[in-house]
Amino acid sequence: MTGDELREKYLIFFEQKGHKRIESSSLIPHGDPTLLLTSAGMVQFKPYFTGEAVPPSPRLASCQKCFRTTDIGSVGNFKHLTFFEMLGNFSIGDYFKKEAISWAWEFVLDWLKIPKEKLWITIFLDDDEASRYWREIGVSAERIVRCGEKDNFWGPAGETGPCGPCSEIHYDFGEQHSCGPDCSPSCGCGRFLEIWNLVFTEYYQDAQKKRTPLPRKNIDTGMGLERTATVIQGKRSFYDTDLFAPIIQRVSQLTGRKYGDNEKADRAMRIVAEHGRAVVFLIA
Ligand code: SER
Repeated sequence: MTGDELREKYLIFFEQKGHKRIESSSLIPHGDPTLLLTSAGMVQFKPYFTGEAVPPSPRLASCQKCFRTTDIGSVGNFKHLTFFEMLGNFSIGDYFKKEAISWAWEFVLDWLKIPKEKLWITIFLDDDEASRYWREIGVSAERIVRCGEKDNFWGPAGETGPCGPCSEIHYDFGEQHSCGPDCSPSCGCGRFLEIWNLVFTEYYQDAQKKRTPLPRKNIDTGMGLERTATVIQGKRSFYDTDLFAPIIQRVSQLTGRKYGDNEKADRAMRIVAEHGRAVVFLIA
């Protein structure tokens, strides 16, 4: 499945679940002084979550162009990009955890055909409700890992805004990539790759970091297009997927270096490919 097919499949799946397809907004957020760049799919929907605006439908789905300057130092590894596309389904006070979890599982297993044995789930520390829904759809208790605020509480995007506990789906590249007996989905060693984050957006965080309940409970999910393409195309890195391979080839032509010959040069070529692509989208 190509990256383009994955993007389309995702949007069709959620249209079939009653979602309205929404175009990606600009990388420059409109009317949002808290953010320099659009960093997540939920950014254009923030006024819907806070109740300041009425959405065109309580169920929305998009493929959002995102830019994360926070990850710039990691570019060149197999986990982080500055520019990426985020697939997302959103509930504005409509469905909540149960549906978000069961639809994510259905899409990953039945539409993407990722084997269940390769997947792990993380949940927020005390989120027994999310744990129960994952168990109900057949995830075993050993595959559900509880993590704290750093890993499993998302947002706000910027200083203030909607946020909430989250639950993530991680792909396991196998024990041969493990850094040791304590390796788990929250580990950065490269054995695991988070492909989808389901945020249960219940709170508004103000400038004093005080959290108050939003008018309604919402869903904000984000599936990384490039990460998921890596997994379903059986690759180990973004740069080997159809979304990046042509750019790497072009860097190779221009520099006269063969990708795969030398790790230091390979990393440099990945950085050039990533930044080249990112800058094109920023300019556009
Ligand atoms: N906003 C969440 C994220 O960026 C889920 O879409 O991970």
